Amino acid sequence: MSEIVIKDLYRDTKKYNNKEVILEGWVKTIRDSKTFGFIELNDGSFFKNVQVVITDKLENFEKVAKLSIYSCIKVIGKLIITENAKQPFEIQATNIEILSECDKDYPLQKKRHSFEYLRTIAHLRPRTNTFNAVFRIRSVTAFAIHEYFQNNGYVYVHTPIITCADCEGSAEMFKLTTMDLKKELPKDQDGKTDFSRDLFGKETYITGSGQLHGETFASAFGKIYTFGPTLRSENSNTKTHANEFWMIEPEISFCDLDELMDIEEDCLKYIVKKVMERCPEEIDFCDKFIEKGLKEKLNKLLNSEFVRIDHKDVIDILKKADKKWEFEPDYGEDLAKEHEKYITEYFNGPVFVKNWPKDIKSYYMKLNPDGKTVAAVDLEVPGAGEIMGGSQREEDYEKLLKVIKERKMDADQIYWYLDLRRYGSNIHSGFGLGFERLLMYITGIENIRDVIPYPRTPKNCDF
Ligand code: 4AD
Ligand code: MG
Repeated sequence: MSEIVIKDLYRDTKKYNNKEVILEGWVKTIRDSKTFGFIELNDGSFFKNVQVVITDKLENFEKVAKLSIYSCIKVIGKLIITENAKQPFEIQATNIEILSECDKDYPLQKKRHSFEYLRTIAHLRPRTNTFNAVFRIRSVTAFAIHEYFQNNGYVYVHTPIITCADCEGSAEMFKLTTMDLKKELPKDQDGKTDFSRDLFGKETYITGSGQLHGETFASAFGKIYTFGPTLRSENSNTKTHANEFWMIEPEISFCDLDELMDIEEDCLKYIVKKVMERCPEEIDFCDKFIEKGLKEKLNKLLNSEFVRIDHKDVIDILKKADKKWEFEPDYGEDLAKEHEKYITEYFNGPVFVKNWPKDIKSYYMKLNPDGKTVAAVDLEVPGAGEIMGGSQREEDYEKLLKVIKERKMDADQIYWYLDLRRYGSNIHSGFGLGFERLLMYITGIENIRDVIPYPRTPKNCDF
């Protein structure tokens, strides 16, 4: 491993001027004439390549000049600042060692490929400029999220992946079993599958949300967050749904809906600001090649106050719109994609839609005094749609139990969740931030499959 990487050379160019450097990396492009040539080298440390100049003074010049794209080399050479050239500096090679040659059928030759095609070579696509930018932004964004919550006194909780708790509806959770599905399953007296014979002695799932467990920790630490994989078995073949995604779920004690929206807005602005500061080259690239006007959009977000509007007022706006809807907007209904799009374009930025009809939202949400709506809030953004979904939680034991019974849920299964309403109950709120939806918003990528290293979506679990 060489001590210096390309990122160092870009960030501290002057320090290395006229000095010998050693680099190991991949040949991204190569141009040669009879006596000299240029190699664009990348070692993965930085979005940009370095230009390596080769001449026939190299003993293996002819072999090097004929190298195939993505061959590995070790370069020893001198860094020279080239102020008037396209690139700020170049490396004049004095020695090049060929570490490995890349097979000629390498699929990523220098031409543009479609996103669809690149999904079929997901093991190679991180090497392209687009995916290199996206996945570095993914890493930097994850760090900024941790930083935001850690800096603000939140405790990071690892909620379980295997669960028996029903948060967003068990129909959407993957079932987990060690029973042999190829054989006949054991039955109980009622003729139903006998899960007491299964590994955990009961029916278990893979988590679709860590919220319920998160709430238990919030009532000990005040402020907590989770950040982990989330699985949902919904058969939704859309650009914004995946069966495996990552979610951040903060939960805050002594916090109502208005305060929750303040936190959501502050959090989102912090993350966007940090990513723009730390990934300038990647964001520039996305602005140029993925979403024109991306930087302007992100800057506008940093400097704007998000709109806060009741669900019923959104429906009013939609109903007044001079538009033919595929799904007619209605006061008791969820917002369809086309409605989300219209409303974010109408306000030209992120919009908090709050106070939703109770019947279309989750059981744990705080019932408003009108008896018809709950204190829930979704943050809608242009493109990615709903990136955050949250609510004030019902802190009243009797009211919560009543809804659980009305919805024919098993109260015994989540007795520990109900306990929080008996032991030190408090007004509290939380939200879920869809990590991939956030990345779509930050990069301008239109399909969730292109911000996940190995996406899992209906009928697709390759690699
Ligand atoms: O709105 P959701 O379902 O809310 C919850 O799970 C709550 N328990 C959160 C909480 O209050 N603690 O999901 C939260 C967010 C959505 O706003 C969306 O961004 C993302 O998770 N999300 C998905 N992202 C990708 N693919 C899917 N199938 C998603 N489902 C939800
Ligand atoms: Mg939601």
